[in-house]
Amino acid sequence: MRELERPSTDNQALLLVETVAELREHVARARSGGRRVGLVPTMGALHDGHLSLVRHASADCGLVVVSVFVNPSQFGAGEDLERYPRDLDRDAALAREEGAALVFAPSFDEVYPHGFATTVEVAGLGDTLCGAPAHRGPAHFRGVATVVAKLLNMCGPDVAYFGAKDFQQAIVIRRLVADLNIPVRIEVCPTVRDRDGLALSSRNAYLSSREREDALSLKCALDAAERAIRDGESDPRRLAEAARAELDRPGVEAEYVEVVSARDLTPLERLEGEVLIAIAARVGGVRLIDNVVVNLTQEGVSNGCRDRC
Ligand code: PAJ
Repeated sequence: MRELERPSTDNQALLLVETVAELREHVARARSGGRRVGLVPTMGALHDGHLSLVRHASADCGLVVVSVFVNPSQFGAGEDLERYPRDLDRDAALAREEGAALVFAPSFDEVYPHGFATTVEVAGLGDTLCGAPAHRGPAHFRGVATVVAKLLNMCGPDVAYFGAKDFQQAIVIRRLVADLNIPVRIEVCPTVRDRDGLALSSRNAYLSSREREDALSLKCALDAAERAIRDGESDPRRLAEAARAELDRPGVEAEYVEVVSARDLTPLERLEGEVLIAIAARVGGVRLIDNVVVNLTQEGVSNGCRDRC
């Protein structure tokens, strides 16, 4: 364990712990002092999307733990595991500014000790959209579900915070928590975007300025879909086509545009209920995702994902 030596505006110390034993000690102390514990799982390279989760956690909880672990088991062969951006001291300083008191940054061996043999698979939800064999494949969400189940068990938080930016991930996690009776509340917080609408992502750092412009077409596609719904479109296929048209430009390679139920990711015959429009596309070789949820159960059209998963 080490205490981060950085100037702090509010003098709040931040502890960096690397073992489950130390993490549990701090969590137990907080809990016996009557504090609620919030966990924000991340892979580091923190940006304002991650920090919004830390802010939500700080507003709700007396102890906020941010975990930083680049989880190899959720990266496929040929994905960006090796070049994934890593800067733990910067991440810790940013997390502290938003009210985190503990950063848990375990080693590979702490998470996957010799002999590790268990995986968690959320059937159905984990093998569609990004988990479809033609895309990242089911191994991706198997890796996510396994590490998140472990992080929840390692920390034992009262509440864990996830972003709607990774909507499918949030749904997979809600399912696994319910199915495995993990005693935690899952909060899903809205997607944070740059001023021009691009969803914040650690992978945006890979984009050249030209590619960043091209990447805006994902948001344009979601906006086009929302406009089509407002204009009375009721056919999910035509809606997907309206969105896909925005991705049809040089430099952008659409992987999928899906219009599905936001509750269980199943295909829709008609546009009704809570509709998820989810997009994955490659821009200059960088894989980006974005989504919007449109709630057609209310009068008019509203979007927003907090607690909708
Ligand atoms: P990572 O990509 O680092 O994201 C950590 C959390 O930040 C996730 O819950 C993600 O949905 C959220 N997030 C990312 N960009 C966001 C944005 N623009 N607005 C709001 N929230 C955003 O997701 C993972 O790590 C990993 O799969 C993890 C859950 C940590 C398991 O390894």
